[in-house]
Amino acid sequence: MSLKGGVGIVTGGGTGIGRAICHALAQAGARAVGVNYSRSRDDTEATVRALANYDCEGIALQADVARKDEATAMVTQIVERFHRIDVLVNNAGITRWIDFSDLDAVTDEVWQAILGVNLFGAFYCSRAAAPALRATRGAIVNIASTSGHRGTGSSLPYGVSKAALVQLTRGMAVALAPEIRVNSVSPGEVATRWSIIAKGEQYAKASQAETAARTPLRGCAAPEHVAQAVMGLVLSEFVTGQDIIVDGGLSATY
Ligand SMILES: NC(=O)c1ccc[n+]([C@@H]2O[C@H](COP(=O)([O-])OP(=O)(O)OC[C@H]3O[C@@H](n4cnc5c(N)ncnc54)[C@H](OP(=O)(O)O)[C@@H]3O)[C@@H](O)[C@H]2O)c1
Repeated sequence: MSLKGGVGIVTGGGTGIGRAICHALAQAGARAVGVNYSRSRDDTEATVRALANYDCEGIALQADVARKDEATAMVTQIVERFHRIDVLVNNAGITRWIDFSDLDAVTDEVWQAILGVNLFGAFYCSRAAAPALRATRGAIVNIASTSGHRGTGSSLPYGVSKAALVQLTRGMAVALAPEIRVNSVSPGEVATRWSIIAKGEQYAKASQAETAARTPLRGCAAPEHVAQAVMGLVLSEFVTGQDIIVDGGLSATY
């Protein structure tokens, strides 16, 4: 599969891992990338501007992916404009930081919010994009997490949402074969604003240093490391329904 002249959509593409994926798609020759956001307009506009350096047209797409109508309208907007989609990356994600033992803090609102973005959002976007992806024999990549594989991470519902996203990946791979491949990437800790916003810069730095020391490849992942795995899956023509862990080998040690 070549991305030359192709069109991508990256949910939550204006920041962090999503931004690195937008750059990677543009670098691989995509002619346009839809950069979705819900709140981060300034970051998204900066990402869109940066894509021009690769001769790639960035389109900022405001939509809350947890809302079926907004997710569908966003995909339709790209199809109407470019008449194709080659790659969809479901990267948008949220969490709440809740100690695993604090079950009372896991309210219905928390479940609905986290599953709404991390699981339902990926499903809504994938379903809406499926007809266009079928026509190009395109690919979907979902951004899950090692929290979906282990009892670790920011909260119990977050881990459950990511485990469900890995299972959605397998199910959709079967549902959309043979035309569309569906895979996921599960990063371990990645140096983005993710933990800085919730816990502050000092916490994030300490956590990353601690992770780096325990990691066989000695480091904490950068957003670009996740983007490399995404591109590997996008370009691998006989791989579907698979999840790749990007954690420098940390999970291989336990
Ligand atoms: N950083 C890590 O350690 C790590 C580890 C494993 C997995 N991940 C996963 O990687 C993905 C990206 O995270 P990140 O680290 O790059 O942090 P981030 O910069 O905060 O990215 C999260 C993105 O999701 C978007 N988003 C959230 N709710 C949305 C909604 N309702 N509709 C559309 N977009 C929405 C955000 O945009 P708005 O601000 O506009 O809402 C933001 O661009 C997430 O799925 C996360 O679970 C991160």
